[in-house]
Amino acid sequence: MSGTLEGRIALVTGVGAGMGTSIATAFARDGATVVGADIDEPAGRAVMDELGPAASFVACDVARVAETHELVRQVVASNGRLDVLVNNAGVTRSLGFFDVTEDDWDLINSVNNRGLFFLMQAAARAMRDDGGGGRIINIASIAGKGYRGTSNVAYAGTKGSVIAMTRIGATQLARYGINVNSICPGVTRTALFDQVIDGLVDRLGGTRAEAEARAVRSIPLRRANDPDDIAALAVYLASDAARNVTGQSWNVDGGLVWD
Ligand SMILES: NC(=O)c1ccc[n+]([C@@H]2O[C@H](COP(=O)([O-])OP(=O)(O)OC[C@H]3O[C@@H](n4cnc5c(N)ncnc54)[C@H](O)[C@@H]3O)[C@@H](O)[C@H]2O)c1
Repeated sequence: MSGTLEGRIALVTGVGAGMGTSIATAFARDGATVVGADIDEPAGRAVMDELGPAASFVACDVARVAETHELVRQVVASNGRLDVLVNNAGVTRSLGFFDVTEDDWDLINSVNNRGLFFLMQAAARAMRDDGGGGRIINIASIAGKGYRGTSNVAYAGTKGSVIAMTRIGATQLARYGINVNSICPGVTRTALFDQVIDGLVDRLGGTRAEAEARAVRSIPLRRANDPDDIAALAVYLASDAARNVTGQSWNVDGGLVWD
């Protein structure tokens, strides 16, 4: 097989569902050796088993820093190095401003913010020590840029943090040839989207179809993303074509937000 990612060693988190599945699949199709990680071992392993001999799975809760260190160690031990990290795993719930609890805050931040940073740090350390440079792609959200339809305020905060860490990370890792970019998905049809729609129905009433229609009506192109829309940009950011692109946060959202 030949593709734009031929010979790359890639690590993708949250491969058991949604965008992670699409990104791992697109990377494998484009020739990368892909290690997928997920807290949900049966789901993650099933996805990676489908992708052939160049794909493998490691169980990991990205909120546990020791597990992310072990994950990067295993990727390097099995493949010699790590070229691309896609920090995709993320969690949220649909919550009103006054409903966010300390437990919600801690869970959402432990995965989307703290976990994402320490995996980025561990991957960058391996890339620096190898000397061959690398790519880090963080899955943020347009929630981090003020999208009013976000699932909750704490989640939006974590995604704003990802965008800020992408900029500073890109600056501080540039000397090692490591490019850091974010993708900011808009409304995207995944399990997480279904969960947010269910939460909206519980909180605001109406039917699922009405809640979905409300979400899509506000999108200028009148179309929610498929996970493959995110995977296509991830392939570009991991490829040679994006060698001079770093510190950017790219919206894929049908025109919802501009900056
Ligand atoms: N779906 C959307 O509309 C949307 C919009 C903007 C941004 N995002 C972001 O995109 C990313 C992917 O979201 P999705 O919609 O594909 O989600 P999803 O819920 O469909 O899939 C997320 C995957 O991550 C895994 N995961 C959850 N917690 C984990 C942990 N602690 N360690 C390892 N794996 C874990 C889950 O098991 C699951 O397989 C997230 O960062 C999310 O915040 C989603």
